[in-house]
Amino acid sequence: MTIATENIKVRKVDFNVQDINKYYVDGNICGSHFINALHIVFPEGERFFIRSVKRYLKEIQEDKTLVAKVKRFIGQEGVHNKEHEKFWDILEKMDIDARGYAKFYNNAAYNFIEKNIIKFLGEKRGNMFALSMTTALEHFTALLADGLLRKSPFYDLPKDVEMLLKWHAAEELEHKAVCFDVYEKVGGDYPTRVAGMVMATGMLWFFIGAGQIYFIATDKDAKLTKMPADFLEFCVTLGTSESIKSVVKMYFDYYKKDFHPDEHDNYALAENFFKEHQSYFEKMGVQA
Ligand SMILES: [Fe+2]
Ligand SMILES: [Fe+2]
Repeated sequence: MTIATENIKVRKVDFNVQDINKYYVDGNICGSHFINALHIVFPEGERFFIRSVKRYLKEIQEDKTLVAKVKRFIGQEGVHNKEHEKFWDILEKMDIDARGYAKFYNNAAYNFIEKNIIKFLGEKRGNMFALSMTTALEHFTALLADGLLRKSPFYDLPKDVEMLLKWHAAEELEHKAVCFDVYEKVGGDYPTRVAGMVMATGMLWFFIGAGQIYFIATDKDAKLTKMPADFLEFCVTLGTSESIKSVVKMYFDYYKKDFHPDEHDNYALAENFFKEHQSYFEKMGVQA
């Protein structure tokens, strides 16, 4: 099943997260700093996705449907990075160096690694590799979204934080196939797609992990004695969550030669989420 262009909706949401505890992931220090790292990695990553796909807009211009989907994809990612960046102010009020880590991540991942990959491979192959990494990371966001919307693997979260993460997750499902379709349309090959996924997997978890460790190491309020128990609890919660098996299977599906994101039947998860929470979004003046 594929998705109709009009079902990839750019919702101009405006979350107003207030009065949350520093350890808002159920009091768990490691879990809270894991989500904090996502708030940094997502927006910088989304800007990379947008520029990687934009380079190919001219090449796909004859496919009007795909161009329209790409524009909606760019629209959705633009709102995502704005909403996650709003969270940086909340983190800094809690003495968490959000912008410091964002600066490091941006310099290391994009000013250094991205630029050097394009320089090393040459513009044509480098741009294709950047698109294959984008396609891979879009698959990652879709499988994490599937896990989160099917059965949340996390603890209880403050309502607005949960809605922010689930709104993002649902839109990731809506546009999960767009970059993949662009990649295929512009002649992206299988070995480059696999190499993009290998590189994306390493970089994604390195920068999420480094962010989490940086925030824990610089957290003056975190009790060291509580850390081992929190870390263990965090790992057990993730490792034993009901979603983990299907998320791992979905990840490896990407390595199949004939894989397409639409073979994972999960558009309904997004649709049901927005149906169920229509009134929450209406209060923001947004048609879900
Ligand atoms: Fe996104
Ligand atoms: Fe996305």
